[in-house]
Amino acid sequence: MTGAASNLSAYLRERIMNKGPLTVAEYMVDALGHPTWGYYNTRDPFGTAGDFITAPEVHQIFGELIGLWSAAIWQSFGKPKNIRLIECGPGRGTLMNDALRALRQTMPDFYAAVHVDLLEISPVLKAQQKAVLSGHHESVAVHWYENFTEIPNGPSIIITNEFFDALPIHQYERLADGWHERLVGLTDEATFCFQHGKLLNEDSFIPVSLRHAPVGDVFETSPARETMVLEIGERLQSAQGACLVIDYGHVRQGVGDTLQAVQAQEYHDVLVSPGEADITAHVDFEALSSAAKDAGCEVYGPVSQKLFLERLGIGTRAERLAAGATANQIQDIHQAVLRLVGDEEMGSLFKVMAFADTANFSNKPLPGFE
Ligand SMILES: C[S@@+](CC[C@H](N)C(=O)[O-])C[C@H]1O[C@@H](n2cnc3c(N)ncnc32)[C@H](O)[C@@H]1O
Repeated sequence: MTGAASNLSAYLRERIMNKGPLTVAEYMVDALGHPTWGYYNTRDPFGTAGDFITAPEVHQIFGELIGLWSAAIWQSFGKPKNIRLIECGPGRGTLMNDALRALRQTMPDFYAAVHVDLLEISPVLKAQQKAVLSGHHESVAVHWYENFTEIPNGPSIIITNEFFDALPIHQYERLADGWHERLVGLTDEATFCFQHGKLLNEDSFIPVSLRHAPVGDVFETSPARETMVLEIGERLQSAQGACLVIDYGHVRQGVGDTLQAVQAQEYHDVLVSPGEADITAHVDFEALSSAAKDAGCEVYGPVSQKLFLERLGIGTRAERLAAGATANQIQDIHQAVLRLVGDEEMGSLFKVMAFADTANFSNKPLPGFE
C-alpha cells in the first residue's frame, strides 16, 4: 500500500470509529476525491500503463467524432459567435484536444467561437490537461472549475465521457425484513467490511416494480448524479445548448450490485486499500433521463455507443484516416474501431444519451439519435 493509501485508510477508520459506518457514497467520495489522498488527486490513472483505458485514450477518432457532433449542435442553434464547450471530468484532456484539432481543420468558424471550460477536481489531471491543450492556448480560452454552477452562463455544448460513473452511489440491500442501506464499517480486526443500516421505509426510494425483489438483491441510487443532471439541465433551459452523456450502464432501472474497483486493468476489492484503485458503478440511464426531463429538457436515447459512433460515421472517418497510413497504422485504426464499437468490447455496454433545451430542440433530431 502506498503512503497516500495507508493515510486514507487510517483517516477512514478513524471516521468510522468516531462517527459510525459510512454510506457507500461517503466512502466513494473520499476514496476517489479526498483532497490529499483520493485516487484522482494522487495520480494519472489512464492508458495501457495505468489502471484503465477510456474511449478517447483508445484512439483520436473518438474525440474527433465528438468534436464534429458538437459542431453540428452549434450549427443547429444558429452558429452563435460565442459558445462554451464544457467537458466534465476531462481526464488527460485527450478528447478535448482531439476534438479541437479536428475542428480547427474542418470547422474554423466553430473553433473561433469556442470557449473551453473544464470541470475537474484533480490537480494532477488539471496540470496534464493544461499541457495537452497547450497547442490551442493562443486561439482558444480554457478555464478550469471544480463546481459546475461556477461556470459562467451562456450557450453551451457539454460533453461527459465516463464522468457520471465516478459520482457516488448509495446501495440498498433487500434482507428478510425489507430494505436496508449498505454501509462500510469495520471488522474486529479493523479491516473495512459491508454492514447494514436500519430497516428503511421502501416506499420512499424503491420503485414499485422492484419492491418484492428476492433477499440479497441490491438497488442503487445516485442523488449526486441526478443533482448534476438537474444543474446541467437548468443551465441548458436558461441559455440554450445540449449535453452528451457517454458511460457504461443500463437503460432501465433494475436490481444489481454494480460497484466495482479496478487497478492495473484488473478487478480489485472495493474495500481494500481505498485510494489505490478506481471505484465506479454503472450508470442508471433511466434515472438520468428522468432528472433531465424534470429540468424540462428534451431527452435523446440512450443508444449503444456502437450505434451512436456508426451514425456519426466512424467507418468513413476510419477509412479516411487509413488512406495514406502505414500498414501498422491501418492495423491500429482497425483495432481501435473494433474496441470502440465491438459488441464484446465497448460497443454495447457503453450507452450514449443527450439532453437539450426545448426552445431550440423540441421535436428536432440530434446527430447520432435520428
Ligand atoms: C474515469 S475518468 C474519465 C476521464 C475522461 N473523460 C476520459 O474519458 O478519458 C473521470 C474524470 O472525472 C474527474 N472527476 C471525478 N469526480 C469528479 C467530480 N466530482 N467533479 C469533477 N471531476 C471529477 C476525474 O478526475 C477524471 O478526470
